[in-house]
Amino acid sequence: MDSSVPDRLQSRRRLLERLTVGPATSTELAEGSGLSQSAVDEQLDALERAGFGIRETARGYVVDACPEYGGGAIEYGLSAPVAVAYHNQLGSTNARARELATGGARDVAVVADEQTGGRGRRDREWTSPQGGVWLSLVLGPAAPARYAPIYTLAGAVAVARAVPAVVDARIKWPNDVLVDGRKLAGVLTETATTGGELDWLIVGIGINANVDPTDLPGDDPTSLQAELGTVDRRRLAQATIEHTYELADTPEEILPAWRTLADTLGRRVRIETDAETIVGEAVEVTFPGSLIVETPDGRRTVAAGDCEHLRSVPE
Ligand code: BTN
Repeated sequence: MDSSVPDRLQSRRRLLERLTVGPATSTELAEGSGLSQSAVDEQLDALERAGFGIRETARGYVVDACPEYGGGAIEYGLSAPVAVAYHNQLGSTNARARELATGGARDVAVVADEQTGGRGRRDREWTSPQGGVWLSLVLGPAAPARYAPIYTLAGAVAVARAVPAVVDARIKWPNDVLVDGRKLAGVLTETATTGGELDWLIVGIGINANVDPTDLPGDDPTSLQAELGTVDRRRLAQATIEHTYELADTPEEILPAWRTLADTLGRRVRIETDAETIVGEAVEVTFPGSLIVETPDGRRTVAAGDCEHLRSVPE
């Protein structure tokens, strides 16, 4: 975790990491977190105020209740080394993540219960009422700048892996997560580069979790609530962060994983790029995330654009 993540978040993260493992005395907590005994007591009080049940046993402190959602709740049991900056309401988690990233923070997830100015791809509005999972992960992978698109695909793979398998989430190129053709989630990545290398990377992920899809604009969106009933947002946010973190660490694994979850490959598609419209069959995806489309005029490699799945032409 980077030193510019606020100290308060870092020490809470370390404390919760230690408590996830099992009981710990206040001396053990102080040693493991680098905090003084009184700072440990303050953190434990703050966790209790946030809804944690913390009990003192003969072997030390144990957590016997965890709040439903929130910064500490997401950190408790989280296997990725990420601190969570949680807000009940924020304009956009990506915008806040950018502020933290430019200040030097890495390995932090900005999470909001509600966004009032959520942004989607191509600067579209992203409606983000309470109940969704709206988060932006700030990472600092050591990779060339030209790798940037692969991390967008990673976000979509992470979501498709994180949602309960029963919904059979699929990915529309490049990064829309669909259920039966309806949009469940989207990914917006932002990067800064220095000398041809990635400086920081923000993977912004929006999942329509416990929201009513009739409150959302767009082409027939869906939500996990509509598909399955209310889901555990804490587990969903944790799994999304963990999968994204893991994939960002192993970029060579992203494309194979994306292909197995793809809904686009083998379909007739219409791609709107800034310059043209391309219609044909989507036949492959290549590093760092371009779509290969077989058109009547030959194969085209498309790096970016809006993709629409078309009905196949009858033989
Ligand atoms: C898209 O499909 O257009 C991408 C949508 C990305 C939305 C998420 S919600 C969390 C993060 N904060 C934002 O403002 N946008 C992303």
